[in-house]
Amino acid sequence: MLSGQGNYFLLSTAHTSMLLFCADGRAEYRYFGELVRDTAGAELLAPEWEGRTLLPCSPWGSTDFREPSLLIRHADGSVASRFVLTGAEIAPRVLPAGLPHACGGGDCLRLTYRDEAAKLVLCLQLMPLEACDAIVSSAWLKNEGEYAVEIERIASLQLELWGKDFSFTTFDGAWGSERQRHTRPLALGKCENASYAGSSSAFHNPFVMLTRPGETYACNLIYSGNHRETAEADDTGRTRLIAGINPFGFSWRVEPGETFYTPEAVLVYAQSPAEASARMRNFVMTHIIPPRWADCERPVLVNNWEGTYFSFTRDKILSIAARARDVGAELFVLDDGWFGRRDDDTSSLGDWKDYAAKTGGIASLADEVRAMGLQFGIWVEPEMISEDSDLYRAHPDYTMRVPFRKPLTMRNQLMLNLADVRVQDYLFEAISNVIQTVKAAYVKWDYNRYMTDCFDAVTRGGEYCHRYILGLYALLARLTERFPGVLFEGCASGGGRFDLGVLFYMPQIWTSDNTDARERIRIQAGTACAYPQSSMGAHVSASPNEQTGNRNSLYARFSVACGGVLGYESDLTAASEAELSEISAQIAYYKRHRRTLQLGEYTPLGDAFGDDWSGYLVRAADGSEAIAVVCLHEKHTEVFNRRARFAGLEDGARYRVYRVEKDGGEQLLTEADGDLLNRASVSLGGIFGETDVRENSNPLYVRMYRFERIGR
Ligand code: GLA
Repeated sequence: MLSGQGNYFLLSTAHTSMLLFCADGRAEYRYFGELVRDTAGAELLAPEWEGRTLLPCSPWGSTDFREPSLLIRHADGSVASRFVLTGAEIAPRVLPAGLPHACGGGDCLRLTYRDEAAKLVLCLQLMPLEACDAIVSSAWLKNEGEYAVEIERIASLQLELWGKDFSFTTFDGAWGSERQRHTRPLALGKCENASYAGSSSAFHNPFVMLTRPGETYACNLIYSGNHRETAEADDTGRTRLIAGINPFGFSWRVEPGETFYTPEAVLVYAQSPAEASARMRNFVMTHIIPPRWADCERPVLVNNWEGTYFSFTRDKILSIAARARDVGAELFVLDDGWFGRRDDDTSSLGDWKDYAAKTGGIASLADEVRAMGLQFGIWVEPEMISEDSDLYRAHPDYTMRVPFRKPLTMRNQLMLNLADVRVQDYLFEAISNVIQTVKAAYVKWDYNRYMTDCFDAVTRGGEYCHRYILGLYALLARLTERFPGVLFEGCASGGGRFDLGVLFYMPQIWTSDNTDARERIRIQAGTACAYPQSSMGAHVSASPNEQTGNRNSLYARFSVACGGVLGYESDLTAASEAELSEISAQIAYYKRHRRTLQLGEYTPLGDAFGDDWSGYLVRAADGSEAIAVVCLHEKHTEVFNRRARFAGLEDGARYRVYRVEKDGGEQLLTEADGDLLNRASVSLGGIFGETDVRENSNPLYVRMYRFERIGR
């Protein structure tokens, strides 16, 4: 809800409100927090001193010397601007041209500022989203002058808060350790969370939180490229949060008459980090995931990658697929190695043509898989090119590179120049052709390196990285429009590009190449702080684990993978009869409760980054059941009385409590009330004795429970 009352504008969602004061050439935040219904008395919220206000933007050139939200290099080389608020109105929303954005929503508060000398117009747009308690923020700059200007930075969001006692939480990592939560107190000065890698990166996810007891402000960017979020506290008792495209190396020329649009940012206020995360997940499900997939149960897949890597034959693939069918999987995914002459990672990227000598004919292979009753899915890595490829031999000019410099390879590959529309067209045809040839139901879209030689001969250097991302979005928009029934899963050496921009086109993303259950609980717990479980690809792989060598029971691996979209990724032809029957039971169990697991309301249990136990509980949207997984990270033999608490159940509801066994059966433990289970900690007695991994001294100790509601 949006209302204007005198000089005040009140943006309210179901549980939160933001109040802005707009007059005398400036706009100020006056309140952001729990829901308020009226603005009477709002003059009491005015700052003590006019210069000490809370601003939604801070263009460089005023007497505010903190991090600026906008920096413009004018035609004469000067960088000082003087923007004055000229309008504040409730207006229809303007979509950011060519960028993914929050779907739906209604009117916005639009703040219009003008730099009269330069004839530049800056608009800020704030859109409240009622049901999920989020506010979407963006900006655009229009050049109404006679000379071109360069934008050197422009934020999607600036939030300012009273106080300098916040903590800053970020989600950082690397390959195999994506989105580990880190929280540090803000000292005076600035904390930065950013990517310089060309994509949102495994190093620092764009999702951040500012917290202090009883208050959390969480923000994410709907963008897949270089991003930066800064939190700055100063001795005037204010904290400033800025989020947007990383200004590093960025500059964008705006010619007279042109407009530049920032990506959108989403902002949430809540009383706790857990509540902010729940609101973020809700926002993603409602406004980011393509509507066709948002409420759609996703298939259980089997992927051959960790089972075969590049060395497979047609027979091998068909025998894995046959096992996949036998255990009840629904989708078989042929991973890397099926195209060009791809026997390892040194060749063929760009040549999206069947490696017939290896596959025996990809179209008929896909038909045979389908004849087994499975859907067929395929791996591609469209944004890349191998020097040893027909595409490179024919079109070295399609490569991202700096003239007269040899571009750096990573994983033996170079990148294509997606800023070039010819390259986008080539990929649109090539990938369309792959999808049509194999009648793909699913495409895994991989991206296995970061950007180093961000340049081409025609694009202005400072615009390159953003133009690349715009090119990627244009390509994804065309492909997903042409193939609306195809389920796309994003991937970037695991979870190296897990962001809202990707999710706008591809409803799920491979969370990490690290499939060790012990490590996955943290990776998935960190990811779930901002993203819903149906967006996280989660696979059961071999034990000992390929990445870490750790051993874990099939039951533990499955229970952890149930925290995302379930798949299996190993050589199923090497599995024993006992393992295959356990996998069949797991898949049958998962399918029975898939709606709850994939689309239910998710509550983290314990703390994967702190406590010595953690897990998750998902409750069906209709409340009829909930499933919980509890993991003990370490064995402490001196402490026998291990306990967990099942927050996330319904107060006032009565449940039958089952323990889920490894044969897919359930053992009824008792009946209990949600009130009790939500609050009291429950004994996990005997959990150490149960693990069947004797040869490993330190497995993950896991139990799965189901709560069936039998009354209220
Ligand atoms: C990346 C992905 C893996 C697999 C390989 C194939 O590492 O994350 O899942 O697809 O590429 O080369």
